[in-house]
Amino acid sequence: MACKQIAALVQRAPISNLTGIQGAVNVQGADQKKLDVVSNEVFSNCLRSSGRTGIIASEEEDVPVAVEESYSGNYIVVFDPLDGSSNINAAVSTGSIFGIYSPNDECLVSDNDLELGSSFLAVGYCMYSSSIIFVLTIGNGVYGFTLDPMYGEFVLTKENIKIPKVGKIYAFNEGNYQLRDDKLKKYIADLKDPGPSGKPYSARYIGSLVGDFHWTPLYGGIYGYPRDKNSKNRKLRLLYECAPMSFIVEQAGGKGSDGHQRILDIEPTEIHQCVPLYIVSVEEVEKLEKYLA
Ligand code: AHG
Ligand code: MN
Ligand code: MN
Ligand code: MN
Repeated sequence: MACKQIAALVQRAPISNLTGIQGAVNVQGADQKKLDVVSNEVFSNCLRSSGRTGIIASEEEDVPVAVEESYSGNYIVVFDPLDGSSNINAAVSTGSIFGIYSPNDECLVSDNDLELGSSFLAVGYCMYSSSIIFVLTIGNGVYGFTLDPMYGEFVLTKENIKIPKVGKIYAFNEGNYQLRDDKLKKYIADLKDPGPSGKPYSARYIGSLVGDFHWTPLYGGIYGYPRDKNSKNRKLRLLYECAPMSFIVEQAGGKGSDGHQRILDIEPTEIHQCVPLYIVSVEEVEKLEKYLA
């Protein structure tokens, strides 16, 4: 329900004056867009009114929020309500990402036993693009649905998605080239080398993880958001972006790595923690790991 509402808001954004920034800055120092704030409200309200949610942790909230007792359940939900929100002004693809954890009385980050990989019950993302695509796993394969605008329902359109082991699409922000270390520069240079086949990899990058990622499960390839050469982690959040997407790719036979280890083996140390992300086709991610080793 939240994704359907956000889809409608995104599509009508220029009409209802929902483009542009809100004026506030979130805990990660990013300018909140109007639709970041509204989408966060929509997600939170849907989760509250389900009566099943105990704690919500959102990109747009400073700390995890406990649902008031009258509505409360015991699931923990992490989400990025609107991913790629700077694309809204230009009507380019955006998304929502969420993960649902097992019932747990403890607050998410104070629970030392939390294992990101094994405790997800369900993970999904929705892409707001030329079609509204909802991709879901409940731990037994990955399924894709398309919102039928005529009936307002998500219709199953891709059953048991399997990610190709290799693929020639790469999605990296080329503008950050000078910020990368030499091993990574060499890797990217090799992707661009046409080699004997005469066909280099094709670049895709629009600045929304969901939109950039969604290419690769279909065609195979790699999405990367590296750490800077001075070891500074940049934008992608472990809890709302990297871990949920990694859970989905593993369910579909792919791989999510920080360049050295499995994303789902990283123990979160803070709620808004950022990590590097290299994700999707197994052989492409493993090739990258060899360059970085
Ligand atoms: P969000 O809009 O949820 O804050 O996420 C933005 C992220 C992610 O969607 C995208 O992959 C990345 O920022 C793009 O960053 P650059 O513009 O630095 O490449
Ligand atoms: Mn943001
Ligand atoms: Mn995001
Ligand atoms: Mn976001």
